[in-house]
Amino acid sequence: METERLTKPVPAVRPDRVAEDLEELRASLEPGHPIDTLYREHDEILRFLDLLEEVNPRIQRLAAHEPGNRDLALLKHLAEHLVAAEKHHAREEDVLFPALEARGLTGPTRVMRVEHNQFRPRKHRLLVLAENAATAPDFAAFQTEVDEIARFIAENLREHIYKENAVLYPAALRLITGDADWEVIKEKCDAIGYCCFTPGKGTGH
Ligand SMILES: [Fe+2]
Ligand SMILES: [Fe+2]
Repeated sequence: METERLTKPVPAVRPDRVAEDLEELRASLEPGHPIDTLYREHDEILRFLDLLEEVNPRIQRLAAHEPGNRDLALLKHLAEHLVAAEKHHAREEDVLFPALEARGLTGPTRVMRVEHNQFRPRKHRLLVLAENAATAPDFAAFQTEVDEIARFIAENLREHIYKENAVLYPAALRLITGDADWEVIKEKCDAIGYCCFTPGKGTGH
């Protein structure tokens, strides 16, 4: 991995210019840098959340389960991808956060871990629901539970990603300055692995 660009000064993210500054920050990252990969995965996850918010109201309007319904198939596909994002969260929790905590940044990582723990059971439950939609004993109850989980995940995971994008990842780039440190982080991330949807690394499933 080329490392000379990693040593460039990290552009600041100013509260009043978050979007522009983040674009500059991201452009400064070498493709394949652990933070570059996490950012790209966030782009994909945000796309899943948009689709989840589109498909959920259509599922709510169904009168009963329909075999071959495309929206129910899409829900299952999205739930699979959200569960597959666990490797993204594992790279954060097991590699990036400990590196930040070792440098004295502990509050934000604690909040992010709590939020991961809020998403994890809901994502798995959404997948179980989607996989068993055809045999749901009470389709209205199925719809209600899908609605609650889809809304919770779409709203809160988007917020979570925004905080990581605008605050945590820029902090990581400021606090972890050595190329050797990033190399170690990258090796640990590689060992955990990537998601099926990780740009340039996943299976594209
Ligand atoms: Fe996270
Ligand atoms: Fe994340």
